[in-house]
Amino acid sequence: MITNKHFGTLANGQTVEEHTLTNQHGVSVDILTLGGILRRFLVPTKPKATDIVLGFDTLEEYLADQSYLGALVGRYANRIAHGKFSLNNADYQVDVNQAGNCLHGGANGFNAYVWQATVLSDSNEPSLALEMSSPDGDQGFPGNINVKAVYTLTKQNRLKIEYFAKSDQDTVFNPTNHAYFNLAGQHHGSVANQKISLEASHYTPTNANAIPTGEIASVENTPFDFRQSTIIADALALNHQQLEYGNGLDHNLCLDKFTAAQKDAFYAGNAACQQSGLEMKVYTSMPGMQIFTANHFADMPGKEGAIYQAHQGVCFESQFYPDTPNHTHFPSAELKANAEFYSVTEYEIIL
Ligand code: GAL
Repeated sequence: MITNKHFGTLANGQTVEEHTLTNQHGVSVDILTLGGILRRFLVPTKPKATDIVLGFDTLEEYLADQSYLGALVGRYANRIAHGKFSLNNADYQVDVNQAGNCLHGGANGFNAYVWQATVLSDSNEPSLALEMSSPDGDQGFPGNINVKAVYTLTKQNRLKIEYFAKSDQDTVFNPTNHAYFNLAGQHHGSVANQKISLEASHYTPTNANAIPTGEIASVENTPFDFRQSTIIADALALNHQQLEYGNGLDHNLCLDKFTAAQKDAFYAGNAACQQSGLEMKVYTSMPGMQIFTANHFADMPGKEGAIYQAHQGVCFESQFYPDTPNHTHFPSAELKANAEFYSVTEYEIIL
């Protein structure tokens, strides 16, 4: 089932709607047309449903948000060093909006767009398409690009997010969703005592500004070894320069099962919370996963009276590696003119 309601109106008169997708098990997600934001992810636990993503109650708070809560992110998720890259021997300067680098597509990225919504299926597997066009030169990126994100809530309690895109020029493209998950419930404090696992034997170390050094390093004996299910606090407690640089976990892990020919989502890892008994499995077709634990949150008012603090949520941002356009040995984020881009990421709730 899909229902739809008015969420707010922007200063320019554009309206923002919220669609609620509910499957036959009573799992539901609220999606805003602003930024394709995943505003709520309700799981039918007893005695009360648990909302497992962080978010806000009002449009004004989303417009002021600097942390991309639940948003679709692009054109290039994560960072491009100094906002500079070359493609086909042309140099590009894209918007630098964070510490002299381009973060999440620049100041007016996909999260700032109002997307056009179409209900694809109103059945037991509700599905909603969100579409937008970004013009040639938007935030400095080449090519007119048409983008479609499809949210589907499957019978297996998977929230599936599929990304489709086509550009009229060669470009770089790296979309993701920036949901912060807390399996104890969005209002329920830190995720530090929850566990995560990732099928990743390597990660991309960064400099102090979160830009990859270019090394693809083993996770062995580092805080980034999540090959066994690990309590987040145990990883954070390790003494490691990368944790200082990231102010905690804010790193891209290289997923072992990725191949460039990959079209379908493969199992990438999970999150588990003893307190609620919930587990979430993550699947993706993308090569990397940025694990970010909301390190800078402090006294941030969230939904329904919640106050978000550091480590209130964990993001599983499926993506190409950060700064790929400047590292030819990373899996390529180039999208050729008129080629069909497709990627898929799925979050499965185990009740
Ligand atoms: C993450 C990024 C963090 C931070 C966050 C937004 O994807 O890795 O460093 O910028 O987005 O608050």
